[in-house]
Amino acid sequence: MDGKFISFEGPDGAGKTSVMRQVQADLTAQFGDRVMYTREPGGNHIAEEIRQVLFDGQNTDMDGRTEALLFAAARRQHIVSEIVPGLQAGKIILCDRYVDSSIAYQGAGRQLGEEAIWQINQFAIDGLLPQLTIYLDIESELGLNRIAAHRANQVNRLDKEKLTFHQTVRKSYLRLQREHPERIKLIDASQPLSDVINDVESTIHDRFPELFNEKSD
Ligand SMILES: Nc1ncnc2c1ncn2[C@@H]1O[C@H](COP(=O)(O)OP(=O)(O)OP(=O)(O)O)[C@@H](O)[C@H]1O
Ligand SMILES: [Mg+2]
Repeated sequence: MDGKFISFEGPDGAGKTSVMRQVQADLTAQFGDRVMYTREPGGNHIAEEIRQVLFDGQNTDMDGRTEALLFAAARRQHIVSEIVPGLQAGKIILCDRYVDSSIAYQGAGRQLGEEAIWQINQFAIDGLLPQLTIYLDIESELGLNRIAAHRANQVNRLDKEKLTFHQTVRKSYLRLQREHPERIKLIDASQPLSDVINDVESTIHDRFPELFNEKSD
């Protein structure tokens, strides 16, 4: 498969969506429609329907394992209908959240066990990991404050979890980054947005030099 698979991770309010929007625009200026944006757990009709169940504010009684299995199911469908065809077509795929989110949120945050969540996700991803994972690291208070300040009207069920949940999620991300330093690159997301974007773009540049040395199209 010729494509590049880059996932973006980080706690709520880290700036994934803001950063990805600019990175997508900048890469598109250079690579045109080779650049593809997609997000977890949606990206296609079946997975979007699963996402609606997950983020429905009325589903306050959802069991933790149910939630984890739904995320894994949506991920599987997303891989089959979006990511694998994209990679086969040589796309540069920017994916908003992937398997590390499940380890951090369900495994650590919901205390289902990071190893157990890894196991069910192995079945879902069948070995497909990103070549590069951008981890936007931010202190939990700062991330939550950004959400509260900028989009209080859009806070969803998972955003409402208490601060300690978010701190547990962050610790898990930091542990994953230490365990997989080759795949997962940490970016300081507390910086001004333009600096975060610069760091992310140079990380992509460093990881895929062959992409930027190509002088075709
Ligand atoms: N570096 C930054 N400095 C200041 N504000 C920022 C920065 N990055 C993002 N923001 C603001 O913080 C808010 C949350 O950012 P964004 O939605 O991009 O985060 P996210 O990581 O995608 O969150 P979620 O996981 O909830 O989707 C937005 O209102 C955005 O404008
Ligand atoms: Mg986002």
